[in-house]
Amino acid sequence: MSFQIAIDGPAGAGKSTIAKRVAKKKEIIYVDTGAMYRAMAYYLLKRGVNSGDAEAVERECEGARISISYENGEQVVWLNGENVNGVIRTEKVGQMTSDVSKYPKIREQLTLLQKELASTNDVVMDGRDIGTCVLPEADVKVYLTASVEVRAKRRYLELSEKGVSCDLEQITKDIEIRDRQDMTREISPLKQAEDAVLVDSSDMTIDEAVEVILGLCKENQQ
Ligand code: DC
Repeated sequence: MSFQIAIDGPAGAGKSTIAKRVAKKKEIIYVDTGAMYRAMAYYLLKRGVNSGDAEAVERECEGARISISYENGEQVVWLNGENVNGVIRTEKVGQMTSDVSKYPKIREQLTLLQKELASTNDVVMDGRDIGTCVLPEADVKVYLTASVEVRAKRRYLELSEKGVSCDLEQITKDIEIRDRQDMTREISPLKQAEDAVLVDSSDMTIDEAVEVILGLCKENQQ
């Protein structure tokens, strides 16, 4: 059996940064499931699909072949043979992703891919439903969160550092909308698995959060 670390939590809690570091320390792969949903949303945006049109979404999503590979330890997401890493991180794609990730057909397709990856590799996988749906038997389950204010500030700093002009109030509002949408959808909503350990990173450094997770791995003998 492979060793599985599941990290779920809301947008901006630091999941990907922390999960990447844990994966490096453990010398196992990091699977960013949000990037797979983003690739699907990007495809649907390119096809001009309206996210509220369930029939169109379920029909069009069949045309998206999504897979991942690793280059120098970095996950590369492929959409119909195209590397889409560079185009899936925009706010527009993020919002579309949250809108369309409620559709069962999309979730089934991507969950299958995620389960396959974890069955043949030791993984740190992050997302919204990893501990609850994708890897319910994971060796370590973490629910990583932080207050809305802290998450908004982190996002603001990240964008400002990249030279993108942004507004803290608007970012806060966007995060609140995304949380509500991800937590209240019918299928696989974001929630803490009963056996997940809650890690609130609001007052933690990245290194501290990584240490907490590595400690949990030790407790679970890996
Ligand atoms: O982690 P992220 O911000 O890249 O995720 C983008 C969106 O994808 C998020 O709003 C909800 C969705 N998502 C999901 O529904 N299930 C996952 N396992 C990962 C992401």
